[in-house]
Amino acid sequence: MHVTTPLIIDTDPGVDDAFALALAAASPEVELIGVTTVFGNVSLENTTRNALRLLTLLGRDDVPVGVGAARPLVHPHPHLSSAHGSDGLSGFAHTLPEPTRDVDGRDAVTLLRELLEQADRPVTIVPIGPLTNIALLLAAHPHLKPKIGRLVVMGGGVTGGNVTATAEFNVWSDPEAARRVLVEEDVPTTLVPMDLTRRCAVSAEWLDALAKTSEVAKTLVGLTPDYLATYRKFLGWDGMAVHDAVAVAEAVRPGILTATAFPVDVDCAFGPNRGALVVDQRLEVDAPKTLGITLDADLDGLRAFLFDRLGALGVRQ
Ligand code: BDR
Ligand code: CA
Repeated sequence: MHVTTPLIIDTDPGVDDAFALALAAASPEVELIGVTTVFGNVSLENTTRNALRLLTLLGRDDVPVGVGAARPLVHPHPHLSSAHGSDGLSGFAHTLPEPTRDVDGRDAVTLLRELLEQADRPVTIVPIGPLTNIALLLAAHPHLKPKIGRLVVMGGGVTGGNVTATAEFNVWSDPEAARRVLVEEDVPTTLVPMDLTRRCAVSAEWLDALAKTSEVAKTLVGLTPDYLATYRKFLGWDGMAVHDAVAVAEAVRPGILTATAFPVDVDCAFGPNRGALVVDQRLEVDAPKTLGITLDADLDGLRAFLFDRLGALGVRQ
């Protein structure tokens, strides 16, 4: 019998989050059992609305959506004009179908707790926004850690950042939460940093071809204009990074990315490096915890995998 991996996505949609949710919905290796929302690319209200609408587009109104944190754990979030447009989806959230249901009555941490309690096999959690909900979960319910098979976290930059010179958006958005999850907790964790996700960027031609595969894919690609425009400048060519979908690819097909174990820390000081991931790449360092950091992949193979799965949207449901 084909045994699927239960999967929960903690998300702040977000254009690349939309691609990540779609990949999960289109992948038979995983069973998407829950989605939790967090502030991040846009306000919690918008990320939650976007998550509900995206799941409706994907034919997955059966997946409960738990509303999570509206702000970071400790320090207020500085305002950042987003790469994802005014509504988080390049101004095209209104093109998505209206959800036929509301959010779950349980908040994110309660939903995560109950889904973990009920699971009959290890659950993979993929946080693709600020780590606030996950830090709260691990702090409040440490006894559930053995129920988490793996965290696959999109976040951090090993050689630089995208918000500041050294900090990547998800870690920078709540450094204290990121430190709790990535440094202090003993849950098996794979970190998918922006160094790799940027190298996995897809081209405008790739998106055009994807849009031709189905109405669902066309709608998904229709959410990209503002984000694509930002990345065009950032990359210097006509394409965009689908950061969060790369993390989901690793959750769906473990080992599709190549990980190396390093000790890490998160800079929580109020200096120029606040929110930076600090990766100790010295050899033979004796550290209590290491993270598997994915620094490499077969880039063309990964893009082909994403295209194959997203190109089957609306077919396999
Ligand atoms: C991360 O930040 C967000 O803008 C994206 O959705 C992704 O999760 C990349 O740095
Ligand atoms: Ca995200």
